[in-house]
Amino acid sequence: MNSFGKIFRTMIFGESHGPYIGVTIDGCPPGISITEDIFRHDLDRRKAGQPGATERVEHDKPEIISGVFNGFSTGAPLTILFKNSQTRSNDYKKIKDSPRPGHADYALWKKYKGFNDYRGGGCSSGRLTVGVVAAGVIAKKIIDPVIIEAEIIEAGGISDIQKAVEQAKNNMDSIGGKITCQIKGIPAGLGEPFFNSVESVLSHAVFSIPGIKAIEFGDGIQSSLMQGNQFNDEIISPDGKTLTNHSGGINGGITNGNEIIFTVHIRPTASIGKPQKTINIKTGKPATIEIEGRHDTCIALRMPVIIEAMAAIAVADLKFINRRIS
Ligand SMILES: Cc1cc2nc3c(=O)[nH]c(=O)nc-3n(C[C@H](O)[C@H](O)[C@H](O)COP(=O)(O)O)c2cc1C
Repeated sequence: MNSFGKIFRTMIFGESHGPYIGVTIDGCPPGISITEDIFRHDLDRRKAGQPGATERVEHDKPEIISGVFNGFSTGAPLTILFKNSQTRSNDYKKIKDSPRPGHADYALWKKYKGFNDYRGGGCSSGRLTVGVVAAGVIAKKIIDPVIIEAEIIEAGGISDIQKAVEQAKNNMDSIGGKITCQIKGIPAGLGEPFFNSVESVLSHAVFSIPGIKAIEFGDGIQSSLMQGNQFNDEIISPDGKTLTNHSGGINGGITNGNEIIFTVHIRPTASIGKPQKTINIKTGKPATIEIEGRHDTCIALRMPVIIEAMAAIAVADLKFINRRIS
């Protein structure tokens, strides 16, 4: 239910203020070199602490507790834990009965009948993406020589990211952002013509990240405004290479041998310093909350490596599925 993938199956677990969060990969092939230091680079790219990101900075030290022996994956389920040590759960007491507008608080309270851990967004916290990034590091090894690169290109609607973040911070508000992602060196022929089209598999993975509101492949939304002679990508070689890449590397749900290109749109952070109206779920009466605690002004700043990880997890699974049928 809370896992992704048919053969390379990734499950993340834990809560923002629980003792640990983590990831289990079932279906990781044996013989992949895995030590705790291979995760450092990508985990650091996701880390908080820079301007516009939360002041909650965790150590993010991976503890591999299963599926690795003598420095190599065994092929059995692989679990990695990360300790939560920088929690300040009291910050959330005041909003316990007053769900934050735009956050998952109310929906989680309903779904889990009030038994959910509300502290720091509980199981919907961005904190859980540490496990995603760790799984992504392993997936990136599996899909090598395919390379995935994502970067933030806009925040708050402008390309001067730093300026946008400073303005939002000064206004005690938050902003969204836009990220592009390229999957380079991906072979032609992955994916299925309908339900497991590459767009749908990648979208499933990417939309699992909290805060993502839209994804576009190739020219995306712009394509509805183009004409066929502008949009169609001229094929220039027998390996399927095209002159342009308006389709974003996918035709008929299947990779066409060109780079996959997609753009992701991320919402502004729900938790803002300004007073906001909500209701008290115990009394049913209107309430006004002022959110305390440490929050990202712009969650998109920390997202590129998470998007890369999700894309890598999806491509690894597509690769194994393709190997089974071809
Ligand atoms: C890396 C990361 C950090 C996040 N940090 C915060 C945060 O500090 N405050 C907040 O309100 N939401 C934060 N979020 C977003 C919430 O988790 C998300 O908006 C919430 O669960 C509701 O989900 P939705 O936006 O997909 O509807 C973060 C998300 C990610 C991926």
